[in-house]
Amino acid sequence: MDNRVRIFDTTLRDGEQSPGASMNVEEKMIVARALAKLGVDVIEAGFAFSSPGDFEAVRRIAHEIEGPVICSLARAKAEDIDAAWEALKGASRVRIHTFISTSDIHLKHQFKLTRAEAKKRAVEMVSRARGYVEDVEFSPMDASRSEPAYLYEVIEAVINAGAATINIPDTVGYALPSTFGALIKDIRDNVPNIGRAVISVHCHNDLGLATANSIAAVSNGARQIECTINGIGERAGNASLEEVVMILKTRRDVLGLDTGVNTTEIYPVSRLVSSITGIMVQPNKAIVGDNAFAHESGIHQDGLLKDKETYEIMRPESVGISRSTLVLGKHSGRHAFRSRLKELGYDLTGEDLDKAFDRFKCLADKKKEVFDEDVEAIVQDEVLRLEMPDRFRLLKLNVRSGTDTQPVAEVEMEADGKAMKEKVSGDGPVDAAYKAIAKITGTRSTLLKYSVTAITGGTDAQGEVTVRLQEEDHIVLGQGSHTDIIVASAKAYINALNRLAYKKKEKRENLSGL
Ligand code: KIV
Ligand code: ZN
Repeated sequence: MDNRVRIFDTTLRDGEQSPGASMNVEEKMIVARALAKLGVDVIEAGFAFSSPGDFEAVRRIAHEIEGPVICSLARAKAEDIDAAWEALKGASRVRIHTFISTSDIHLKHQFKLTRAEAKKRAVEMVSRARGYVEDVEFSPMDASRSEPAYLYEVIEAVINAGAATINIPDTVGYALPSTFGALIKDIRDNVPNIGRAVISVHCHNDLGLATANSIAAVSNGARQIECTINGIGERAGNASLEEVVMILKTRRDVLGLDTGVNTTEIYPVSRLVSSITGIMVQPNKAIVGDNAFAHESGIHQDGLLKDKETYEIMRPESVGISRSTLVLGKHSGRHAFRSRLKELGYDLTGEDLDKAFDRFKCLADKKKEVFDEDVEAIVQDEVLRLEMPDRFRLLKLNVRSGTDTQPVAEVEMEADGKAMKEKVSGDGPVDAAYKAIAKITGTRSTLLKYSVTAITGGTDAQGEVTVRLQEEDHIVLGQGSHTDIIVASAKAYINALNRLAYKKKEKRENLSGL
């Protein structure tokens, strides 16, 4: 058996299912480019049938990104398989990934199918997908809670129908490393034609075991791991790419397995994904958290100074964290700015680079030092926001507040092309500004979360505001940054309202297309 584990990245599909993590097509393109540079084997670019936005993302990624195989998810339904093919056709290295549940709990309560019907559907849809592409992956959803004998039967049948990869999902994160490893071994021992397919695994993190389960699986013969950057994904997320890759690399002595990932790109991609999705990494997160390589105790620091191996099992440089950070400032030129952008995963050119550089110069005039986080915030504000058609735009904002005055905000905005103005008082300047924006936009959304962080240290730091809004079944995140936190707050709120408007429009278009 070969010792190469394929890395199947599903940040743009399962990762995007994290509440509030939705990305527009341009954002997905940026992440896809970074994933290709990282060296993943497969990018699951989306679920083409699910929305016009996902369709377009799959289509563009398949046609424009070189290197990895590009895959679209599809339920075991003819219309899904056909939409996946429509999005992928004409591109060179493509895969259709189709799935149906095999657990009795799902079949009885959700799919309302008998075991025989589900197996028949799986075979038919794998054959349909094979009519379009050579490379077909099949997932028996909720495999870890399925009856083993039935699971083996389905797997055997779909391999005979042409599936080249069999993905075993622990859909609800229920498995233990020992049981999941044993399941992979049992599949290898009990499915007669399993040698014709690659076994893949897709583990969710509900019990915090997604990474451990994935490693147990490859130790028992699986050769593809489905994972996401920073472990984002449905509920508690998926196995995190940086963890599985660095485990395989660091413990090659025991596991004897390799990946094709260029590990020095891990940290830039992690930063890119958290900056685009607004989902921050916890400081103590393995590999990419702020504290992952920070040694606080005197004893540890003493050991490190004597020999790095005393307390370091991996070098930060091996995951792309550089120990010395060159700080940009007002004397930095366009070239330095562009190379820093590249290190952070953004390859900007032309007008996009001009806009970002102008904003950088304005910021550098106000702040002595411009850090990576500032640069990321600039790209977010100046480039990525523009890719999503904005219904609302902030024109002017003035607030009055203090210890002995009632806070008042005067906001001028463009809403659907019309300039509008409101002056409203509130409990504080942010409250007043938000009330004025809500009045102008007429929003019915609820603010679920408001958080402000100083992007870097110092009183001249930019404030970054993240808001989470909900309207009906839509949850969106919005972000805004500025050296004035009231302006940052207004920008974040308006960004979220634009995302909400975009989602609602997308849903209307979907419904009218059904
Ligand atoms: O968690 C899951 O089972 C999935 C499948 C679609 C592979 O995401
Ligand atoms: Zn999943």
